[in-house]
Amino acid sequence: MLFFTLLLEVIWILTANGGRYIWVSVCPHGQDHWPASYPECGSNAQSPINIQTDSVTFDPDLLPLQPHGYEQPGTEPLNLHNNGHTVQLSLPSTLYLEGLPRKYVAAQLHLHWGQKGTPWGSEHLINGKATAAELHIVHYDSESYESLSEAAQRPQGLAVLGILIEVGETKNPAYEHILSHLHEIKHKDQKTSVPPFNVRGLLPPLLAQYFRYNGSLTTPPCYQSVLWTVFHRRAQISTEQLERLRETLFSTEEEPSEPLVQNYRAPQPLNQRMVFASFIQGEMLSLGVGILVGCLCLLLAVYFIARKIRRKRLRNRKSVVFTSARATEA
Ligand SMILES: *[C@@H]1O[C@H](CO)[C@@H](O)[C@H](O)[C@H]1NC(C)=O
Repeated sequence: MLFFTLLLEVIWILTANGGRYIWVSVCPHGQDHWPASYPECGSNAQSPINIQTDSVTFDPDLLPLQPHGYEQPGTEPLNLHNNGHTVQLSLPSTLYLEGLPRKYVAAQLHLHWGQKGTPWGSEHLINGKATAAELHIVHYDSESYESLSEAAQRPQGLAVLGILIEVGETKNPAYEHILSHLHEIKHKDQKTSVPPFNVRGLLPPLLAQYFRYNGSLTTPPCYQSVLWTVFHRRAQISTEQLERLRETLFSTEEEPSEPLVQNYRAPQPLNQRMVFASFIQGEMLSLGVGILVGCLCLLLAVYFIARKIRRKRLRNRKSVVFTSARATEA
């Protein structure tokens, strides 16, 4: 019986077709049991993590990421799917990222969220704080691998963009392209198609500031194959949009209906890993400015003191010349 429950709890199928993960579990909340069937879930470079901004390392070589083809992802409708674990939008490989060691092409995007009455739902935390939800845009190294499923098991085979989503004042029209179709795929395994839209709109406006680290898939089999980019800036959706994300979907095919909520993984230990930042933090910046101002003040002080000393010497010399001139006169 225990074996049976465990089996149901952790069976994931990596489909060859497009390499999408399909959750076939009856219990999506058994994170603690993942390592029992997927040893990599208990390994030492897992995701998500808590990003502590005072212990990240500034790396000046981390250039702004450039998403290509995001504005117009083809003319064909995109497939939107409730897989019982998340809502996932398939993306064509004409979307790709520049600014990483190799060319990474897009495969899919999906969301993580919490449940009604709680303010959190994101997987990554910044300084211990979660936001309401998180978007993941999954890419794979198309220079080295044929498919997402092949790349998913290799170091840095995947590049995932993590976008923290918070609640703002206004409705976000880009997210609406996904959220307005959720009612068509309420139950697990339902699919619908969505007209292509500007995917760039789902990202925060500023892409230059991000954190970078080596991590894993946040769902079984937790392969440690992901080069993570978590943006510093957040995207915003309205309260009403967040409510729809949290309250429309079910993780089950039919009755009894189980709401699809709280599909985020708890933060994992950082262990020996480094987290890099593409930018200098606010505190670091003010520290730098402070030091600069301090140096300038010191320089000015030295300059004025030196000038005073020189004048004094000059005056002394003049008076010496004056007195000696008088002496010759006499
Ligand atoms: C990720 O791991 C590889 C291999 O160990 C290493 O070369 C690279 O610098 C790491 N990257 C980051 C962002 O930590």
